[in-house]
Amino acid sequence: MHRLFERHITTLRTRFDRILSETGFDALLLGSGTAPRRFLDDTQYPFRAHPPFVQWLPHLREHPGSWLLLRPGQKPLLYLYCPDDFWHQTPEAPSGDWTEEFEIECFADVRRLSSVFQNLGNTALIAEARGAFARDDWAHNPAALIARLDFERAVKTDWELQCLRRANRIAVQGHIAAEGLFRADASEYRIHQGYLAATAHNERDLPYDNIVALNSNAAVLHYQFQQHQAPSLHRTLLIDAGARLHGYAADITRTHVADGESVFAGLVSLLDGAQRALLPQVRAGVDFVELHQQMHLSLAQILRDCGLVNASVEAQVEQGITRTFFPHGLGHLLGLQVHDVGGWQQDAKGYLREPPLEHPFLRLTRTLQPGFVVTIEPGLYFIPSLLGKLRQTPGGDTVNWALVDTLLPFGGIRIEDNVAVTALGCENLTRDAFAAAGREGF
Ligand code: GLY
Ligand code: MN
Ligand code: MN
Repeated sequence: MHRLFERHITTLRTRFDRILSETGFDALLLGSGTAPRRFLDDTQYPFRAHPPFVQWLPHLREHPGSWLLLRPGQKPLLYLYCPDDFWHQTPEAPSGDWTEEFEIECFADVRRLSSVFQNLGNTALIAEARGAFARDDWAHNPAALIARLDFERAVKTDWELQCLRRANRIAVQGHIAAEGLFRADASEYRIHQGYLAATAHNERDLPYDNIVALNSNAAVLHYQFQQHQAPSLHRTLLIDAGARLHGYAADITRTHVADGESVFAGLVSLLDGAQRALLPQVRAGVDFVELHQQMHLSLAQILRDCGLVNASVEAQVEQGITRTFFPHGLGHLLGLQVHDVGGWQQDAKGYLREPPLEHPFLRLTRTLQPGFVVTIEPGLYFIPSLLGKLRQTPGGDTVNWALVDTLLPFGGIRIEDNVAVTALGCENLTRDAFAAAGREGF
C-alpha cells in the first residue's frame, strides 16, 4: 500500500504543479477546515476535513486548523495545528511511512503562519474560511483552479482505487449483517446498529447517513429515520449504506424481500438482472446520460412484462411513466465525497453540461474514462405522491392501479454497485466484495 501511496503523491504533485502553472499561481494553501459551531449553542458539528486536503493527507483524521502548502517542484509542507488545549486530544507529530512524502511542522499559535507564509508570491488558498493569517491579495477559492482540480479528481490513482475497493469490502460486511437482522425481524434501529458494529464504524465515520428502510419506508429515497419499533410484518429492507477508508467512500444499496415468491421479489430480481445487463456497457468512451436513458428503456420493459403498465417501452419513456417509478439518476462519481465533484463538468475550465430537462437529478453527464469510479443504481419505487400525479395524466390510464396498490406496502427497490472504469471495461468493486465474502451473485 505504501508504494501505491508514494505513486499517488507523485501523481498529485505532477497534477497540481501543472495546474498551478496553468492558472498562474506560485503557491497553493489547502486548509483542513474548522469545526463549525451550532447556532446559539456551544457544541460543534462533527469535523470533517475538506476533501482537497484529505486527498493529500488521508492518514490524518481529525485535524482542524491545519494547512498544506504546495509549491511547484517543492516537497509539500504540512503545517499541523497542535494547540495547547486540555479539553481535547491534540495531535502528536505524525509518524508512519507516509510522512516521508511531506515536510511537517507543528504549530500552536496561528500567528506563526503569518510569518512563515511571507513571500510566497501569487498565492491561492482553498478552504471554507480564509484564515486570519491570509493576505488580502491572496486568491480565496479561485474558480479556475478549483474547476481544474475537480475535473481531474474524477480519474482515480491506483491508491485511491485500492481505498475504494477496501471501503467496499468493509461496507459489504455491514450489508451481510443487516440482511441477517432483517431476516430475524429486527427494527430499523437494530439493523443500523448491527451495520455499525459489523463495519466498525460510528456515525461520524460513515460517508453519509445510512438509509435503513423497512416496508413502505423504502419508497422514501433519502429516508432519514430509524424506527426503534419493528413492524408487525417484515416485507422489504432497502439499505443504502457505505463505509469510508482513508476518506474514500463506498455507497452500496441492496434490497431484500422476506417472501421470495412474491410479485415484489420478482421485480427485485428483474431489476437486478437489468442492472447487471447494463454493466458491460460501463466502459470508457460511453456517455453516462445514454446509460441512464437506456436504463429507462429496460425499466419500461420490466413494467410492461410484469403487467404494471400496458404501454409500449417508447410510449412509457415519452410520457414520463418510467420517471414516476425511477425518479433519480442512474449514478454519480464516487470518491472522497459520496457524490463526488465535477459530475456535470465537461472540461477543465469548468464548462457544465446539465442533464436533460426531464432528468434533472442525474448527477453525471460526462463521458466515462478509465479511472472513473461511478455508482450504477437503478431503482423502482412506489412513491404515493408521484403515483398520484401520474394518475392525473393520460399515461395514468395505462397503469394497473390494482397491482400498484398491492405493491405500495413494499416501498421500493434500489440496487447500487460501485464500478471502476478500466481500459478494457469495468471492475465491479461491490459485487467483487460480496463474492470475496462468500456471497457470490449478490
Ligand atoms: N446514498 C446516496 C446515493 O446513493 O446517492
Ligand atoms: Mn449513490
Ligand atoms: Mn447510495
